[in-house]
Amino acid sequence: MARVLIDQRELVLPDERPMNVIEAARRVGIEIPHFCYHRALSVVGSCRMCLVEAGRIDAKTGQIVMRDELVPACSTMAVDGSVFVTDSPKVVAARARVEEGLLLRHPIDCPVCDKAGECLLQDYHFRYGQAERRADERPFHSRCREVGPGISLFVDRCVLCGRCVRFCREITETSELYFRARGTDEEIDVFEGVPLDNPMAGNVVDLCPVGALADRRFLYRQRVWFLESAPSVCTGCATGCSIWIESNQDQVYRITPRPNASVNPHWICDEGRYRYAHLHSPNRLVHPRRQMEEEAVEIDWGTAIAEIGAALTSTARPAVVISPFITLEEAHLACRYFRSLDPSSPLAIGPVPVVGEDLSFADGFTIRAEKGPNRRGLELLLNHWNGEPTTFERFLSGFEENEDRPTAVVVLGGYPNDWIDEPTARVLRRVELLVVSDLFESPVSKVADYVLPSAAFAERDGSYVSAPGRWQFARRAIRPPRVVRSEGQWLTRLMGETERFQADRIAEEMAETVPALKVFEQGGPWANGRFENEGIDLNLGRE
Ligand code: FES
Repeated sequence: MARVLIDQRELVLPDERPMNVIEAARRVGIEIPHFCYHRALSVVGSCRMCLVEAGRIDAKTGQIVMRDELVPACSTMAVDGSVFVTDSPKVVAARARVEEGLLLRHPIDCPVCDKAGECLLQDYHFRYGQAERRADERPFHSRCREVGPGISLFVDRCVLCGRCVRFCREITETSELYFRARGTDEEIDVFEGVPLDNPMAGNVVDLCPVGALADRRFLYRQRVWFLESAPSVCTGCATGCSIWIESNQDQVYRITPRPNASVNPHWICDEGRYRYAHLHSPNRLVHPRRQMEEEAVEIDWGTAIAEIGAALTSTARPAVVISPFITLEEAHLACRYFRSLDPSSPLAIGPVPVVGEDLSFADGFTIRAEKGPNRRGLELLLNHWNGEPTTFERFLSGFEENEDRPTAVVVLGGYPNDWIDEPTARVLRRVELLVVSDLFESPVSKVADYVLPSAAFAERDGSYVSAPGRWQFARRAIRPPRVVRSEGQWLTRLMGETERFQADRIAEEMAETVPALKVFEQGGPWANGRFENEGIDLNLGRE
């Protein structure tokens, strides 16, 4: 055990987890300002913003003996008997000097800087800086250059903390960024002919403590204080990274990582980060429609639900295909409904997109080739309802067996990309009734009797189970386009339930009834907020 005193607060740290003073101070609620330190990167101690007073308790006398010089909290370990002071006049003066030095050549263009409102340089200036500026080296520059296909570097805003350089060296191991020149000419740059375009490049924008590295897809589009953040789960691949979906007035402006030690400690890949353009595509399906002979007719939801409900009730063998983009709660509702119509109705998982191969990085972060967020969750659910997780291929083979062939198929799609070809759509079309809910027109929607507009990932509440078996809950970030209803909403109406769809309620129900999801001793999935924050490990083991 290490006993440490920080601002007169005693802290006991386990020997097996030595930590630096910044991390130790956090444990007792003390925030030490810092620029270059990041807990996922190596420590370089270059910015000096984290200077604190240090000393030790003399073992013989029990007296505290302080050192004359200040020490960087990022590169000083909180060892047994050490004493630190983070708010003395000496420390306050040192922080003000560092802040003043950094602002000497800074353009101070906060009114037009994307980072304003979440900039450490700005925040620290108000907290620790001097009221008066003692030097003024006008005119300020505001040089900007493109360092990658999606990232701009505002050179004069940079405080040379080097987080971005270390990220590219230590995490992606691509080393596109480096420090050019020395002294007052020193700046960040990319090597000639090596643009910053690795699959995780967008993380340097989050890592930048100031507005030096900017995401051009976000640049000048929204002030950060207008953004609302919803905790969610990335649906880009089967890793299921924890994310924030940041939006304003039902428009998503950016997706950022939501640190979760169990999934994605600090990062997300660019594929997941920029996977929101389709939400606002003008090509989205936004109205229910019925195909009458050769003509497609838009109908209201009430008519669609009544007609589909009547047709499914009177058909001999209704089946449902559930895509891996549908939440577990919606899938559970669908299974419950179809089994109420026919106790042996086929329940199948829709096609699971796979692109390329898994890509792993130095710290174990993996971008999975499997591009669906919930295949593993659907397998658990179908094991319960079906006794086996019927794949799409297996389901299609049922069309060859005349006796057990489905007479009606409802496809819960929600696919953001192309997912089915014309020959497969023709196989599905062999039934009497074909209903499809999806985001975009596809070969199967073109031949369906009813087409229902589907909600996208940011527009639904519900949970997903990642490939490694973590069950996480995602909150709706924006409302869908006006007429669109999520699968959970219209399935609830189809089932004639009086209560509106509430994913939380269905999650509780699943936790009670599906054995693989009974992982809570008490309190259900919402106990301690884990389900929503870092998720719950279902202990499924690796595949
Ligand atoms: Fe310690 Fe930069 S954070 S020197």
